[in-house]
Parts: sequence; C-alpha cells; structure tokens
Amino acid sequence: MVKNTEINLSAIARDLKKAASDAVVIGVGQGADGPVLLENPLTAKSAEALADSLKVLGITGAADQAVRLPGLPETGSGVLVLAGVGKVSDGQRLSGEALRRAAGSAVRQLAGLSSVTLAFPTADVADVAAVAEGAALGAYSFTEHRSSKDGLKDPVSSVAIFTELAGDKELEPALKRASLLGRAVNATRSLVNQPPSHLYPETFADAAKELSKGLPVKVTVWDEKRLEKEGFGGIMGVGKGSARQPRLVKVEYAPAKATSKIALVGKGITFDTGGISIKPALGMGDMKSDMAGAAVVLNTVLALAGLGLPVKATAWLCIAENMPSGAASRPADVLTMFGGKTVEVLNTDAEGRLVMADGIVAASQEYPDAIIDVATLTGAQLIALGNRTAGVMGADSVTGPLKAAADRAGELIWPMPLPEELRPSLDSQVADLANIGERHGGMMTAAVFLREFVGKGKDGQPIPWAHIDIAGPSFNNGAPYGYTPKQGTGCTVRTLVAYVEDLLARA
Ligand code: BES
Ligand code: MN
Ligand code: ZN
Repeated sequence: MVKNTEINLSAIARDLKKAASDAVVIGVGQGADGPVLLENPLTAKSAEALADSLKVLGITGAADQAVRLPGLPETGSGVLVLAGVGKVSDGQRLSGEALRRAAGSAVRQLAGLSSVTLAFPTADVADVAAVAEGAALGAYSFTEHRSSKDGLKDPVSSVAIFTELAGDKELEPALKRASLLGRAVNATRSLVNQPPSHLYPETFADAAKELSKGLPVKVTVWDEKRLEKEGFGGIMGVGKGSARQPRLVKVEYAPAKATSKIALVGKGITFDTGGISIKPALGMGDMKSDMAGAAVVLNTVLALAGLGLPVKATAWLCIAENMPSGAASRPADVLTMFGGKTVEVLNTDAEGRLVMADGIVAASQEYPDAIIDVATLTGAQLIALGNRTAGVMGADSVTGPLKAAADRAGELIWPMPLPEELRPSLDSQVADLANIGERHGGMMTAAVFLREFVGKGKDGQPIPWAHIDIAGPSFNNGAPYGYTPKQGTGCTVRTLVAYVEDLLARA
C-alpha cells in the first residue's frame, strides 16, 4: 500500500553539461534594491545578461517562485529555472532552511521532468545537505488511487547538486542521509494521505511490517484478542465501536552497540469521527490524518535503523478507529487502562489521550532513558500555535533538546508549560481521572492527562518525557509551499532523527 521511494542524489562540480539534466536551477534572492542573481555556474556574460533582465522578466526572488527560461549553451539542458529563495541581505549566507525550501519548491514544481540539476550557493557540506534534503522532500506525489495517469506528473527522480564540494568525503554520507530522510518523510505523508477505507488498524499494522522489510527491526502486533487479554483498556475502549478492530504495533531497533534507549509513542487513530460525541460534518474527512503521530514514530525508527545509529529505539503505534455504533464507548463509561488506572470517558472525541495512555504505560515498563510521544491530539493546538508550529510539553531535559533539534532540522516547534492548576480539572466523580478537563489551554490539559501515565525509571524518578502535539502541522489544508505538499506533511520525523543524532553527539 505504501511504497518506499528514494530519490537518486548526486553531486557534480565544474562542467554543468556532464549532468545532462532536463533542467538547471539557479537561485534568485529578494535584495533590498530588487532581485539578486545568486552565485551560479553560468558564464560571466550570461549571468550579467540575466541579472540585467530579472526585473523585466517579472522575477522577484520571492520564495516559491520558479520561472522557466530556455536553456543556455553552457547549461547543457533545455530549460533554465530561476528559483526564488526569499529575502537575502548583502554578504549573508542563506540559512539551511532557506536552501531546503528553495530546492524543495523548485523540485516540487518541476514534477514531470525526470532529472534536475540544482545550482544554489553552497559554502559547506551542511549547505549541500540542506539542498539535498529539500530536493528529497520536494519530490513527492500521491497518485495511488487515480484510475488514469492523464494529467499526472511523476515527481523528479534524479537530482544532481552543482557544488565545488563535489569531491568532499563527507558528502556521500550527507546525501545518503538526505535520501533516507526523504524516504521516511514521504512514507509518513503517504500513510497520512491514505483514505480510511484503505488504511485501518489491521492494514496499518501490515504497512508497518511491509515498510520494515530489509531493515534490522523487529515488529510485534497485538490484535484485539491480545489487547483485551492483556488489559489495554484505552485502545480497546476507543476501538470497539468500529468493525475494524484496534491494534498495537511495536517496532524495535536494538543494535548491539547502542548507548542509550528511547521510546516513541504515536497516536494512530485511522479515522476520528468523534465516536458517540460525534464531530460536525464540515472537514471531518481531514480526520483520516489522525494517525499521523503513529506514522511519524514508525518512520523515525525505520530511519534510525536505516542510518545505523547506535541507539535503541522503540516505536509504539497505538492504532484504533473511533466510530459511533452500538458497540462504541459511551460518555460516562469507565475504562481500565493498561497498568490499572481508571478513566471516566466524558467525551468520546477525546480519544487520542486514551490510546496514548496505554502506549505510554507499555513504553514505561521497558525503562527507556526518555519517552517522546507524538499525536494529533487537540484542536486547541491549532488555536494556540496555528497550522505550522507543533507544541512540545514535558520535562525540560527532553523539550529543550527537541526544540534545538527542530531548529537544526528546519521544523517549527514551540515549548508550552504544564501549569499545576490544570490537573484538578481532570478529576472525576467516579474514576481516577476524567478524559476531559479545562477547555482553555486544552493542548496543555491533554498533556497533563498523558503525564499521569508516564512511569518511573529504575532510579524511582519519573522517566523523562515529552509530548508533541502535531494536530496542525501534520496536515496542510492550504496550498503547497517550499518542500511541503498538500495534505500529509510528514512533519516531526526530521526533528526526531536530529534529536537522536544530537543525543549521540553529546554522549
Ligand atoms: N483528533 C482530534 C484533534 C484534532 C483536531 C486534530 C483538529 C487535528 C485537527 C482529537 O481527537 C479531538 O477530537 N480532540 C478534541 C478534544 C476535546 C473533546 C477535549 C478537540 O480538540 O476538540
Ligand atoms: Mn477526537
Ligand atoms: Zn483524534
């Protein structure tokens, strides 16, 4: 159902013609006094002529602009593309994210061509890596359910990066990493984009096995019988209203040389109708994306395995479909969660925290050094931080490094507090906890609920834990931009991989 696709990335220096691509892309920035042609491999004469005509050609250098011109003799390809990189100031280098977005936007808009050469300014290996990542992320489409190929354009399959650093020994691993990251993010997007008719708990578990093939990971699936027997009351309570029964999937990567151990827990609601507390019709289809967290943690562990990093990493995918039916949980039902805590379900639409609670308890029982959970948990996340910025909450020792990792990866994430007054709002008249509490700051209320399920480590202290709410940034309802397509964005995979890399670099 979801295939792994990896873009072909290479680096070339000097002779542009050697790449023999369908198009050569060079950058234009928005300077203080108008468009600026960025450093490029054209002859001085061509570059000068081009720079002089930018304004009349309507080229501003704004991000996401991609203007196609006939190729020049020295480019060795039919098309020259001028790609906007956004604001530039004199003598200042482009940020990694500006390069990533410019490369990604150009590659995305050049779908239909098979090979492209990107000639953006690159001062070091990190710059080349950013261009490569952008390219890998921009080369994506989701066409599986079209009956006709008419009018569809295949993503660019091969990208050559023009750079003076082409011979550098560090380049090969950087390109490999970029294409692996692209594959992990694109697989996440495709899982999110998959319609709920096709992606439901059982098929999601199958897809996890399929994507894991050939990688050194172990996949274990709990079906509804085992979940029931072992007391996963949260996952079962949410899933039992559906004809498609729930699953818990554990994906373990445990290399012998590992120095630390992290657990990742993901929300995998393959469709969220709200259950008996049913959602309004408008926009309900977007709730096919309510499994994004599980797709993220799955593909993060697969990327770590693909990179061969010396870390133990386990993904817990908490998968259920939230449907109303005669078998569904009712408001006021009490569930006994994995580990024994009881929860009064006052709103069946607050289902994510119920499946996540089981996953967090299960993850805690293995004493990881840290637990990070990822979930499209609350509409309140969108109110607080908007469409593109994820919220992160929990222990400073985890949220701080996560924020730093996101900055390095070029993803937007922002720390939010867990104020003490929120906990009593979750008190129940009949059970240990209620599944809803204070509505204002609802993203934080949900996180306070999850915190109740984080276990203690071998030292008797709470396991360092962070919760990332990706309700907004995981799904793009607007126009594509930079390397981000419509619908599933695959956000947070790159942040989590960068977090692990940073963790290993510190150790
Ligand atoms: N899956 C939703 C959260 C969501 C909303 C994700 C919008 C993406 C976009 C979640 O299960 C939910 O319904 N949360 C409720 C909680 C409330 C009942 C306390 C919400 O946010 O309204
Ligand atoms: Mn819900
Ligand atoms: Zn949900």
